[in-house]
Amino acid sequence: MFITFEGPDGSGKTTQLHSLHGYLQEAGLPVLLLREPGGTEIGDQIRHVLHDTRNVAMQPRAEVLLYSASRAQLTGEVIVPALRSGKVVLCDRYAESTMAYQGYGHRFDLVLLSAITAFATGGVRPDLIIYLDIEAEEGLRRKIRSFQAGEGEWNRMDQKELEFHRRAREGYLSMAAAEPDRWFVLDGTLSVDVLQRAIRQRVRGLLAQGPDSERAGEEVR
Ligand code: TYD
Repeated sequence: MFITFEGPDGSGKTTQLHSLHGYLQEAGLPVLLLREPGGTEIGDQIRHVLHDTRNVAMQPRAEVLLYSASRAQLTGEVIVPALRSGKVVLCDRYAESTMAYQGYGHRFDLVLLSAITAFATGGVRPDLIIYLDIEAEEGLRRKIRSFQAGEGEWNRMDQKELEFHRRAREGYLSMAAAEPDRWFVLDGTLSVDVLQRAIRQRVRGLLAQGPDSERAGEEVR
C-alpha cells in the first residue's frame, strides 16, 4: 500500500503524516516513512542542490529533471522493494508535486511531464493521495511563522513568487477533481485533530479493502 501526502507549502501535511505513521506503527503494521526530494543518500544530495537558496540560476527544466532523478532513486532503491515486501509506504510528496509545481507552476506541458514522471517512477503510482488544501498565501504565512520560530527550512522553492504557488495549488485542485477516487481532499485550515481523525478513518478503510479493489472517492471539507 502506497500512500502519499501532498499540499501547498505550509499545509500541515508533514505533521499529519508523522501522526499517521505513529498510529500505523502502534497498530503493528510494517510501515515506512519517506520524504521527497531525498530519502536516499543520492536523493539527499540532489535535495541539497534543489533547495539551496543560492541556486537562483537553476533552469526550470533542470529542476524537473533533478526532482525526477531523486524520485527515480527513491522509487527503485526503497519504495519498490518495500511495497514488494508488503510494507505500507508513506511518502511526504511524490510525482504529483512535480505535476503541481513544475507542471502548473512553471507551465510545462502536462502530457510531456507525465511521461517524464512515469519514466522516473517506472509506473509506480500511489494507491491514495492525501491532499491538504490551503490557499497559497496562508500556507506561505504559516511557513514563514514556523521558520521564524526556528522550525523547518526556508528553501529555494519557497522564495518563488506567490503566483507560482497559486498556480501549483490550482493544479492540485484540478488533479484531485479529475481523479476523485485516488485523492482524499481535506481542508487544511481544519484543526490538527479533526484532520488526523479523518485521515485515519480513510486509511483504515483503504487497508481493509486492500490495494487492488475499487474505491469510492470521498471529500471532507
Ligand atoms: P520541503 O522543505 O520538503 O517542504 P514541504 O514540507 O512543504 O514539503 O520542500 C519541498 C519543496 O519542493 C516544496 O516547495 C515543493 C517543492 N517540490 C517541487 O517543486 N517538485 C517536486 O517534485 C517535489 C517533490 C517538491
